[in-house]
Amino acid sequence: MPIPTLKVPGPKSVEFIQRDTTFISPSYPRDVPFVMDHGIGSEVWDVDGNRFIDFNAGIAVCSTGHSHPQVVEAIQRQAAQFIHISSDYYHRSWIELGEKLDEIAPFKEDALCFMTNSGAESVEAAIKLARYTTGRQRFIGFFGGFHGRTMGALAFTASKPLYRYRFYPTMPGVTHVPFPNPYRQVLAPTSADYGETVVDYIDEQVFGHLMPAEDCAAILLEPIQGEGGYIVPSDGFFPALRKLCDRHGILLIADEVQSGIGRTGKWWGIQHWGVEPDMVACAKGIASGMPLGALIARKSLMTWPSGAHGNTYGGNPISCAAALVTLRLIEQGFMANAASLGSYTLERLRAMMAAHPSIGDVRGKGLMLGIEFVRDRGSKEPANVLRDQIVHAAFSHGLLLLGCSTNVIRIAPPLSISRELLDEGLELLDFSITEAERREEW
Ligand SMILES: Cc1ncc(COP(=O)(O)O)c(C=O)c1O
Repeated sequence: MPIPTLKVPGPKSVEFIQRDTTFISPSYPRDVPFVMDHGIGSEVWDVDGNRFIDFNAGIAVCSTGHSHPQVVEAIQRQAAQFIHISSDYYHRSWIELGEKLDEIAPFKEDALCFMTNSGAESVEAAIKLARYTTGRQRFIGFFGGFHGRTMGALAFTASKPLYRYRFYPTMPGVTHVPFPNPYRQVLAPTSADYGETVVDYIDEQVFGHLMPAEDCAAILLEPIQGEGGYIVPSDGFFPALRKLCDRHGILLIADEVQSGIGRTGKWWGIQHWGVEPDMVACAKGIASGMPLGALIARKSLMTWPSGAHGNTYGGNPISCAAALVTLRLIEQGFMANAASLGSYTLERLRAMMAAHPSIGDVRGKGLMLGIEFVRDRGSKEPANVLRDQIVHAAFSHGLLLLGCSTNVIRIAPPLSISRELLDEGLELLDFSITEAERREEW
């Protein structure tokens, strides 16, 4: 396959970026100078006419691809009907979405939903409901976790110190423990399964020395860590964690903002381990890019009274209309596509690993896949510079990639991506790794 080399950023992109720098907060993390013009499915074009394959669906958001015609049609239809009516009233698509989320919620009990505008807001709702319903104040979170940047969510976020630098104090009451990362174990084993070792640590060290278990309202975590490095926990972890929670009356909250809504080939990441959480926070892929999130909780937990929690835009009619179509499309084929193309991609990444000594690990479920780069497979020293070079090389060859952790590349394309585009993107990725490996001293 001929590999294109683009002249990026082009002149129009340069001009837009200069204007952005003048008027937009510098806090947004921008790794490559991509200025979007339009997108179709898994392809996007910049304002200079350059075409890219989007291997990250925005940031794991455009689950049905960019501007899926049925999603666009639902948005247009709803916008013409009405754009807003306050959450003090009722409307059809909000209610229908609640019914659908109840149907797909990963627990047998009926569900109630609180609609939000973002992942962080879903997490905030989970924190508040956990405190409200248990009467307990404290929580356990995980190193490497990412849950958003508002003060409550930030108290759990522990993937990079930058997210907290000069922002203290965050919400008090959260104790962090190691995530069961099979590739980088930091605890001495107390069980053959490293996930069980982590649960032993919570039970023996945290509850044994620091936090009375009966003060712990909830354990909140991503079933597969996203921002922290696309880390899949070892198989014993969730069953053991569920047992621990049950023993102490602690709620288990799954932050499925990134891993949910079909991305891993199942509706929810936690379903890979057959474990039921008590609440699920979701957002990102739920509405194909319209801002929407939800906290989905067991009905018996959501007992807070009218006025206890609310928001102006929750259940926005356009976002709900987009979500209903998105969930239907995912159910009717894109989730199965994520499962089968995910397994296919993982195999291709394993083959790439044999050819590239810088790849230390490949992992993931469905279309939530990570490639971890190391300077040396023995020492596992993270290859941070190399990772960044690969992202930039890929950009110049027409592939949009995003990193996570300091040395991982994530692959989270639209769930609708075709095998042809996936193959083309993987060729560009392979070429970019070769190019970057040649450049760096390592
Ligand atoms: C697992 C997880 N939780 C929460 C969030 C925060 O979502 P938002 O940026 O929509 O607030 C993110 C965002 O990346 C996420 O990946």
